[in-house]
Formats: sequence, structure tokens, C-alpha cells
Amino acid sequence: MAKILVTGGIGYIGSHTVVELQKVGFEVVIVDNLSNSNIDVLNGIEKITGIRPAFENIDCVDYLSMDRMFEKYNDIEAIIHFAASKAVGESVEKPLLYYRNNLVSLINLLQLMPIHKINNFVFSSSCTVYGQPDILPVTESAPIKPALSPYGNTKQIGEEIIRDTIYANPCYQSIILRYFNPIGAHSSAEIGELPNGVPNNLLPFVTQTAIGLRKHLQVFGSNYNTPDGSCIRDYIHVVDLAKAHVIAVQRILNHKTKSRVETFNLGTGRGLSVLEIIEIFEEVTGVKVPYRLVGRREGDIEKVWADPSYANNELGWIANETVEETLRSAWVWEQNLAQRAKAE
Ligand code: UFG
Repeated sequence: MAKILVTGGIGYIGSHTVVELQKVGFEVVIVDNLSNSNIDVLNGIEKITGIRPAFENIDCVDYLSMDRMFEKYNDIEAIIHFAASKAVGESVEKPLLYYRNNLVSLINLLQLMPIHKINNFVFSSSCTVYGQPDILPVTESAPIKPALSPYGNTKQIGEEIIRDTIYANPCYQSIILRYFNPIGAHSSAEIGELPNGVPNNLLPFVTQTAIGLRKHLQVFGSNYNTPDGSCIRDYIHVVDLAKAHVIAVQRILNHKTKSRVETFNLGTGRGLSVLEIIEIFEEVTGVKVPYRLVGRREGDIEKVWADPSYANNELGWIANETVEETLRSAWVWEQNLAQRAKAE
């Protein structure tokens, strides 16, 4: 079966996608610079699938090393590009780091594609491109609002760079996937989310608080215009998200795309507040999550959830996992991490 390059394949969404790709028989080459990921994830992927994917420790910003990598693996048929920096707050402090990491790597890949005769490109985008949508649930045709952070801006500009490049080259096709909030872990608990240092995202903070690594969770904002005052998001199981990438790659390789650039929302269609997430987590795990209501976090969107019907109908894909199961998987993963830490 076809060989797929997965940049950022050691990371959270990337590693779960590599597993799903290998499960259906794709051969995978991972490029990752391990800047926000751990090489042990390769062992987890191998344990789940029985296959150790090819791995190259390269920064996608390094054009010459990427060129050499494409020469070495000269039969890659599609690229799934995850590798990017993704901490919203950090992007405000270090904008150039974000523009460089997220845009130079993208431009390098798009430049190298014709040289190495690769036509197919799947891109990790984000619901962040919608800002605060006027109409919910949000569809793919909703207007793109000015980005609230350099990180968000890199996703908007990235989408534009892809569209311009694909339309300028008749051989190219691309699928842009706009993720809502991925959470949870693989059912084997061999891979999951592994944030470096203090987590920025909600779920790792919830599980780390539940296990006692953090004293309490801060709930950012309690006076939003939502039923309980906390922000609403569309939380999707990372394995459901990973499976959508397999379908996207199959679609693009089988020339089933309806336009040269297709864009899909990947969400469940259900919005849940921060307080609802805490409540469901406590229910399914039986573990309390001490929390405090604090002020709003700068740059947060009040509420956003997906209309996933275009992906449901066109890709034949649906987010199957319940939020209960998803939260349980995150908890099992956190407990597994704690056991590993004890054993070390
Ligand atoms: N939250 C808390 N306490 C925390 C962490 C988060 O209350 O300790 C709240 C946030 O205020 C927000 C919700 O939980 O209301 C979700 O926050 P996340 O940080 O988990 O995710 P975001 O919705 O902010 O998502 C953003 C971007 C994504 C990006 C993601 C990764 O919109 O595109 O951050 O960092 F992928």
C-alpha cells in the first residue's frame, strides 16, 4: 500500500493517526524534531500495531534535510502535515517562532512536493480560523474572522498558502481538516496526550489534577454568555479524529475529491462547557476534580461547536465515541503515566 509521510507523527494527534494508518496497511514515514514530543511514543505505536514506522528526527523548517529525506524515501505518495507549534499563549509571546515554525515548514513541504513528484497534501487546521462564529453550529462556509493569536493566524495564512499553491499547480490536491478540540487517548493506553510541563489545554489539566499532580484546576471565566457561564467547545475523541485522516488520505489517493482543495470540519456537533466536562469526568471516573472559578483567559472564544454534516456526508465519517468513553480513556492514560513514572 502507499507510503505516507506524517510530519509531527510522534505528537498527540500525529501518533494516533500513524496507528490508524498502519492498521489499514499504509506504510508510514514519520518526520518529527521531538520539540514537543517523546521518542518513546514510537514504542507505543509499535506495541499497538506490531509495526515500527520509519522515523527521521528532522525539523521541517530545515529545507535541505527535508530534501534529503524525500530522496531517501522516494516513493512517498501523500503528506499529512501535523508538525507545528500550538500553544496559543506562547504564540503571543514569541510570534516569530510561530510564523517560522508553522509557515516555513509548510512552504518547504509545498516547494519540495513537485521536486519529489508528490501531489497529495492533507493539512492540520483548526476551528480557531472561525474566531467567534456568528452562527452555531459553525459550517465550513462561515466567514474567517481576524485571528486572535499568532498561532491562529498561522493556521489562517497556512490555509491560504495551500489554496494558492494547489490552484497554481494542476497536479496538486489538498484536504484541509479543521479540528475542534481533540481529547482522550488510545484504548490500549499505550499512547495519549503528553504535554511538556504545565498543560495549556483543559483535559490534561483535568486528569493531572484528578491524579494529584496539580492542586486544583482553574476554570477560565464564569460569566460568559453560556448556560453555566463557562466556555463551550466541541470535544472530539482523538482516535475519531485520527480515523478521519485515513479516510482523507484514501479519498485523495483514489481521486475522489470534488475540488482540488477540500475543507472539512472535524467535530462531534455537540458543545459542552468546561463545567460540564468536569462534571462528566467526575461521574465516569468517580474521582473529584478540585477547581476554582477564575478570570477569563485572554484570547478565549466564548463558544464554538461544529456542524460536521459535510464531513459526515462526504467522507462517510462520524465521530463515534461518546464523551463519557473519551474522558474515561484520558483518565486510564493518566493513570498509566503515573504507574510508569513510579516504575522509573
Ligand atoms: N480551560 C480552563 N482551564 C484550563 C485550560 C483550559 O478552563 O486550565 C478552558 C479554556 O478556557 C477553554 C476550554 O477550557 O474554554 C478549552 O481550552 P483548551 O486550551 O483545551 O483549547 P482551546 O479551545 O483554547 O483550543 C486552542 C485552539 C486550537 C488549538 C488548541 C491547542 O483553538 O486550535 O488551543 O492548544 F489546537
